[in-house]
Amino acid sequence: MITQKIPHLFYGGDYNPEQWPREVWREDIRLMQEAQVNFVSVGIFSWARLQPKEGVFDFDWLDELMDLLHEGGIGVNLATATASPSAWLVRKDPKVLPEDPNGQTYYPGSRQHYCPNSKTYQEASRALVRALAERYGQNPALVSWHVNNEYGCHFPACYCDVCAENFRVWLAERYGTVEALNGAWGTAFWSQAYGEWAEIFPPRKMPTHPNPTQLLDYQRFMNESFLRLYKGEVEILREVTPEVPVNTNFMAGHKPLDYFKWGALQDFTSHDAYPDPKPGEEGEIEGAMANDLTRSFNKAVPMVLMEQVSSQVNWRGVNTLKAPGQMRLWSLQAVAHGAEGVLFFQWRASRAGAEKFHGAMVPHVDPAKSRVFQEIKGLGEDLSCLDDVIDSRIQAECGIVFSYENWWALEAGSKPRTFLYHPLVKETYTSFWRENLPVDFIAPGEDLSKYRLLVVPSLYLFRDEWAEWLREWVRAGGVLVVTYFSAVVNEKEHIHLGGYGSPISDLLGLWVEEWQPLHDDERVPFRFEESSRREEAVYFTEKIHLEGARSMAHYTEGPFAGSPALTVNDFGKGKVFYQGARFSAGLQHEWLGKLADEIGIHAPLKVPVGVELTVRTKGDREFLFFLNHQQKTVAFSLGSLRGRELLTGQDVAESLSLPPFGVAVIERREG
Ligand code: GAL
Repeated sequence: MITQKIPHLFYGGDYNPEQWPREVWREDIRLMQEAQVNFVSVGIFSWARLQPKEGVFDFDWLDELMDLLHEGGIGVNLATATASPSAWLVRKDPKVLPEDPNGQTYYPGSRQHYCPNSKTYQEASRALVRALAERYGQNPALVSWHVNNEYGCHFPACYCDVCAENFRVWLAERYGTVEALNGAWGTAFWSQAYGEWAEIFPPRKMPTHPNPTQLLDYQRFMNESFLRLYKGEVEILREVTPEVPVNTNFMAGHKPLDYFKWGALQDFTSHDAYPDPKPGEEGEIEGAMANDLTRSFNKAVPMVLMEQVSSQVNWRGVNTLKAPGQMRLWSLQAVAHGAEGVLFFQWRASRAGAEKFHGAMVPHVDPAKSRVFQEIKGLGEDLSCLDDVIDSRIQAECGIVFSYENWWALEAGSKPRTFLYHPLVKETYTSFWRENLPVDFIAPGEDLSKYRLLVVPSLYLFRDEWAEWLREWVRAGGVLVVTYFSAVVNEKEHIHLGGYGSPISDLLGLWVEEWQPLHDDERVPFRFEESSRREEAVYFTEKIHLEGARSMAHYTEGPFAGSPALTVNDFGKGKVFYQGARFSAGLQHEWLGKLADEIGIHAPLKVPVGVELTVRTKGDREFLFFLNHQQKTVAFSLGSLRGRELLTGQDVAESLSLPPFGVAVIERREG
């Protein structure tokens, strides 16, 4: 349980009462109670209201609001309000404003217009955090702190002179001498050598390909710059209110921040998920993966879905409405993937401003006549039936290695082809998702003891020490799958010489000599050795030389005809598969599913396609979530499973029928 103060799954949303007159606040509380809301995030964009001038704080409105919420039985996730600086701060020091790589300034008039390295911003935001912590630390409505908001969301990096100065200091700490930096950055190439720190710039606009190590180091530096901001706020909160949980909201598909490093500093992880609800299954896969990623960023603490939309967003070209029942389904999907709370952006739809067409829990129309509000009430009722699942966890035996450094390096350009890391990872994830097998995402170096099957998709950037980390686990019996274009460079982006994949060539039992990337319409046929089945490689192929591994499939045509496309190597008590080509999504799913099956990792039950099944466990209690992602009723056998369905309180056995977008949560009962 995140807090004794709310012994239920969290339910609520971002609450922005500063946009409304006081009469509306009382109505809000009444409606929140009607919907069984118990947790709201307040003040995320309230800096200007809380501190209208330098040195002048206005807390009266928030005092009143906190009292109202507390009397209404609603807990507060109080924001530190630092995500959008007040106009006076920018006027005081225009250097607060960030710059893009072309030297263009991001001006006020929107939000998040701050340079993470601006001293003025840092000092002013910390003063605000301290004032809030001191004033509300003991307030009975306070449940947790919501630090800033979606760090790096609108601009992933600032390139201003202040950042340049800070970057030089960061580099000096990392490399010690300019000579060491020259070595690491490979500046012997293209006459890039530096004589002094002052000669170095951020990777601003350049005539052609930037130095890849400079780029990578800047991504590391920016991640740390934002993280330093977060730590600066958290330090104050922990000092003044050591007992209050702290979190900041992530966006699972967000590239600029290494959330594994951030996760360790959260008392609970949270994320904002806005999959496109347009017809097709992409939305439900993206939602499932976002929840699993966020859960994985810190596996020891609870996870909350902090934001989603009730109906439709306002920022796509075409903003498809969630179909009736879909909001409930996707909300319960988050719980099915481990969430201990379900929240929305935002509580009441704005009347003015850039997000007035963004859906909310209370829409512009009379809530009593609104479909959306009726569904919001229904969801409140559903969540209130799920107290028993609190503190239950997803137990995964399959893992996918996911590295932010790799993401940054792989997508940096000037490679054998353009790679997009997230879709590659998603393809692996989808294979497990289709089999209803729980998956954790794993940062290189994490403890692997609980996993039996590990997939390493295109881990191009590979630190030497990761080799032993994988070896040790495979030796003990782990089954590892590594895919093409892995272990190609080290953390400096220098090639691992002596055959691609050389740091782990003993583990793989092979080395890679060269590659042939494929255009979208190109295919290269290959054939499985055992079954003689023919398939086609897409996207990327490699010329593999076996050194101990056995070929499981080989190319039958093309420049690498006769050489392996898929291999297996025995290593200690384990096995290592190497996939030197991208497979079609169908084949990828089929063969990973088969592999999991062969090593005895199964879903608890076979369910029809279109139904998702997850399991949360707590001690010997087991909660099975069945989610029907289709707009049609499905019925299927429960086999020997019997138990109590928590949303209806009914006993179930033998079979289950799920209406369109229907959900069942069954607590297993023996016998
Ligand atoms: C999030 C943000 C919210 C709101 C929402 C709209 O990125 O945190 O404040 O803007 O998007 O979808």
